[in-house]
This record gives sequence, C-alpha cells and structure tokens, in this order.
Amino acid sequence: MIEFQGTHKSYPVGGHEIAALHPLDLTIQAGEVFGIVGHSGAGKSTLLRLINGLERPSGGTLTVDGARVDTLDGAGLRTLRRRIGMIFQHFNLLSAKTVRDNVAFPLRLAGVGRTQARERADALLARVGLEAHRDKYPAQLSGGQKQRVGVARALATEPTILLCDEATSALDPQTTASVLQLLDGINRELGLTIVLITHEMDVVRRVCDRVAVLDAGHLVESGPVSEVFLHPRHATTRRFVAESDAGDEGALHPDAADVPGRLLRLTFTGTDTYRSLLGQVARETGVDYTILSGRIDRIKRTPYGQLTVALVGEHTDEALRRFGHAGVHVEELSR
Ligand SMILES: Nc1ncnc2c1ncn2[C@@H]1O[C@H](COP(=O)(O)OP(=O)(O)OP(=O)(O)O)[C@@H](O)[C@H]1O
Ligand SMILES: [Mg+2]
Repeated sequence: MIEFQGTHKSYPVGGHEIAALHPLDLTIQAGEVFGIVGHSGAGKSTLLRLINGLERPSGGTLTVDGARVDTLDGAGLRTLRRRIGMIFQHFNLLSAKTVRDNVAFPLRLAGVGRTQARERADALLARVGLEAHRDKYPAQLSGGQKQRVGVARALATEPTILLCDEATSALDPQTTASVLQLLDGINRELGLTIVLITHEMDVVRRVCDRVAVLDAGHLVESGPVSEVFLHPRHATTRRFVAESDAGDEGALHPDAADVPGRLLRLTFTGTDTYRSLLGQVARETGVDYTILSGRIDRIKRTPYGQLTVALVGEHTDEALRRFGHAGVHVEELSR
C-alpha cells in the first residue's frame, strides 16, 4: 500500500540542506495498522507529510496506493489525497461549524450535495457513537469526543489509508484507550490501512501490527510489534519500551540486584502465558526461583508474559533447556 525506497527528505535552513529523514526503505501492507515511534524531531510528521504528498521527497521513490507520489502532478495529488484520511493531535475541527457539518465538510469540498453529505455525516457519527451530539459545536465537546469527530471526518471520503499524527497524545489514558479501540474496529471492519505515529510505545502495543522506530531521521528498527516490543534491539527502542508502562526493560530495584542466582528474562506468548510452566520446571529440576519483576498483558489481542527471575540450584542448565523446549523465550541477563 505504501512503499518507501531509498526515500529521503531535507529542508533548506539558512542556505543549508538539513536532513529530516535519511534514505529509508519501508513497506506498509494494505490492511495493517503500522506504528511509527520516535522522539520529538525524529522525522515522524515529515514521514506522514511525504505519504499524503504535502512534502516532496528530496530523493528516492515513494509509492502510495499504486501512485508514484514523488512524481505526481497537482491533479494527481488531489485525487490521491481523497483516498487518504488524516487525524491530528489537536483535532483541527472548524469551530464555527456544527459537528455534523464538520464531518460533511470534506464531502461538500468534493462536490457532494448538502442533503447527501449530511446523511453520510449522520451515518459516520453513528459509527463513532456521537449521533446525539451532531448539532453541537466543537467547543461543547470533550477531547475524546472531538477526536471521534476527527475520525468521522477522516472517513467521510471513504479513504483507503488513515494517517494519525499523535492522535491520542492530548487525551487521558482512558479516553486514549477508547479512541484506540475505535481505530482498531475501523481497521478490522473497513480493512483500512492505518499509519499511526506516536511517542508512546504503549499505543503501539495496543493497536499496531508492525512498528518502525525513527531516531534522528534514521529508521533504526522495524518489525512485528511482538518482536520489537518484547525483544528490542536498538538502544532507542529499548528506551521506548522502558518508558512505556508495559515494558519489563527497566533496571532492577537495588534490593533485587542482591538476590543470588542466574538472572533470566522469560517471555511467554499466546496461550503459553497462562500455563503453569515456571512451577512445573522448578519441581521437575529441583531449582528454586525468585520473581524479581514481571508483567502479563496483551499485544493487540495476543497475551504475553514477561518475567525477570533469579534461578538457584544445581540444575539451572536443565531448567533453561526445558523452558526453551516449552517455547519460552529465554534471555540470560548480566548483573
Ligand atoms: N518545514 C521545515 N523546514 C525546516 N525544517 C523542518 C521543517 N519541518 C520539519 N523540520 C525539521 O525536521 C526534523 C523532523 O521534524 P518532524 O516534524 O518530522 O519531527 P517529529 O518526529 O514529527 O517531531 P514531534 O514529535 O515533535 O512532532 C526536525 O528537526 C524539524 O526541525
Ligand atoms: Mg510531529
């Protein structure tokens, strides 16, 4: 659906070209929810603006929904943009228009008649759970409701791609969860491709299928969320996982550092998360274990568990072998 090939972007600043994105290769499949994480200034918004043609690449190629965005003319770009919806951190609603007319607005721009545009807006407002609020103005809505209007408006022209620029960053955790659930439902029911940029790994964990990590304009890591989140390779990715409230990448509590034994991180995924493997292996091998930190949660809909344990006993090698045999990912940590 979206393919970057050696694509890069520089901006002229004071007579110099400053690279915002270094050459990158990235493919986003139709129907997936793709996350892009990075710190402020990493190039996330630049990447989105390349996709919808608001910025032109300085080099390389970019194909979006079958069109070569890097060579499209004005008319081609306008046609492409109708197939791309966008939602923003600060919602960008028109304050002088009602909720209904905000949603109808892109259709009116596309030449759809008033009655038909309003009918379609009403159907979209029902989908995002706001039918009772259609005659209100944006100022009369909560942040979460505003973002639902933003989602309905983005869907008005029946796009094939939805771009989300920090769409939940201005919302509290509970509202964030409900907006992410809405996006997840839209992805599943409409088969829409969603590209979601965020500085929160937890947002990626909840809705994304795959993720790429940007660091100062470089794409440093990408892959399935289950891989990148549970086994981050690059230092920047590790930091993102540690910052998220769902990672087990943080340093051990000083008290835990004194616990004797071999330090291991065990990762269980899928239904294995709920098997009584730890106790079973301990009984069978006679090793003892102390749980030093841990978390059981979900990556999208797949359960996972990640435990840091200290193992003591004569047969810790055998215990490691049995964990591995049972499909547990075993990582030995240094002290
Ligand atoms: N129009 C522009 N002219 C010059 N430099 C720009 C322009 N737009 C972005 N930049 C620079 O490019 C780099 C990447 O910016 P970008 O907006 O893509 O970052 P970001 O990852 O979206 O950051 P944030 O999380 O703060 O939104 C930054 O160093 C920024 O200063
Ligand atoms: Mg940005």
